[in-house]
Amino acid sequence: MQSDQVRNIILVGFMASGKSSVGRALSRRCGWTRWDADDEIVAWAGKPIADIFRDSGEDAFRELERSVVKEICLETGRIIAAGGGSFIDDENRRTMLDCGTVFYLSARPETIHRRVTGGNPNAPARPLLGEGNSLERITELLAQRMPAYSQAHHAVETDNLTPDQVAQAILKICGPGILKI
Ligand code: S3P
Repeated sequence: MQSDQVRNIILVGFMASGKSSVGRALSRRCGWTRWDADDEIVAWAGKPIADIFRDSGEDAFRELERSVVKEICLETGRIIAAGGGSFIDDENRRTMLDCGTVFYLSARPETIHRRVTGGNPNAPARPLLGEGNSLERITELLAQRMPAYSQAHHAVETDNLTPDQVAQAILKICGPGILKI
């Protein structure tokens, strides 16, 4: 891939695959601005994501998410961390694939489970994982989503890498053209 073809770097992947922390590491390294779709949704709605799900339901959340994805993909030179479910939606997927280079940050279900619970079985439940953020539910949802995630331009395995190492791997794929001089 030619580095001058990278208009935005878009990070997709399951919850806790490291999209936000890798986004921060990338932004530090290449100087592009970081955009976190979940943060934008929270700002638009004026409340946390768990409250949007509770008060208005998943469909309303997805509607908001589509608007945010469209908006943040309009500009270039951005590092965009997308919410874990956003790339599953056909319209969002087309937008992201058209507007930038999409990296799927992969992680095994066990890794995701460990990161989500932090070893604490009483960690707050994620809206889509339910009580206990169970490994079974993570495994099932990840399998359902794989056909969409596999349409990303590139995949990077994150299980044994730090966010900074994942960022390095991504920048290597992108080439030197986007690095700060
Ligand atoms: C979701 C992932 C979350 C957030 C929402 C829905 C999903 O984002 O957008 O809870 O459908 O996987 P993260 O992947 O940043 O946790």
